[in-house]
Amino acid sequence: MKKVITVLLIGAMVFAVGCSKSDNSEGAPMDDPNDDPTALSYQSDIRPIIQGNCLSCHGNPPTQNAPMSLTTLNEVKSAIQNRGLLSRINSTTNPMPPNGLMPQTARALISEWANQDFPE
Ligand code: HEC
Repeated sequence: MKKVITVLLIGAMVFAVGCSKSDNSEGAPMDDPNDDPTALSYQSDIRPIIQGNCLSCHGNPPTQNAPMSLTTLNEVKSAIQNRGLLSRINSTTNPMPPNGLMPQTARALISEWANQDFPE
């Protein structure tokens, strides 16, 4: 119980410091482009999802009868354009991965990345 209280206290302190920082309007403006939550990239957003959910079969070379590899940006892009990847990851009758759909957030990220024209 003591541990929980300590954790809560530390959390509250971090929260307070974070707030006072962002309230400081005299500080340097935050213009790091990597902070833009709407700008996706293959490297930081898409590759980890594919790695965790698809490469056990769609590696290079593919295994378990998967028909193609999904290890590079171009392979993923080509599967979206030519192999119906977006409809398969959202399909309830014929899903990819075969053992069940990924969380909605992961699926939405891949669709959004395609909408943004496959940024690297
Ligand atoms: C357990 C192995 C396995 C996993 C994990 C897996 N796949 Fe597949 N995938 C297959 C097999 C086998 C096929 C071929 C049979 C079929 O189309 O259902 C296939 C087919 C596909 C196809 C259709 C290819 C075509 O030309 O018709 C797409 C697109 C696809 N997978 C995407 C994905 C994506 C994206 C993921 C991860 C989110 C994923 N797969 C995860 C085994 C897997």
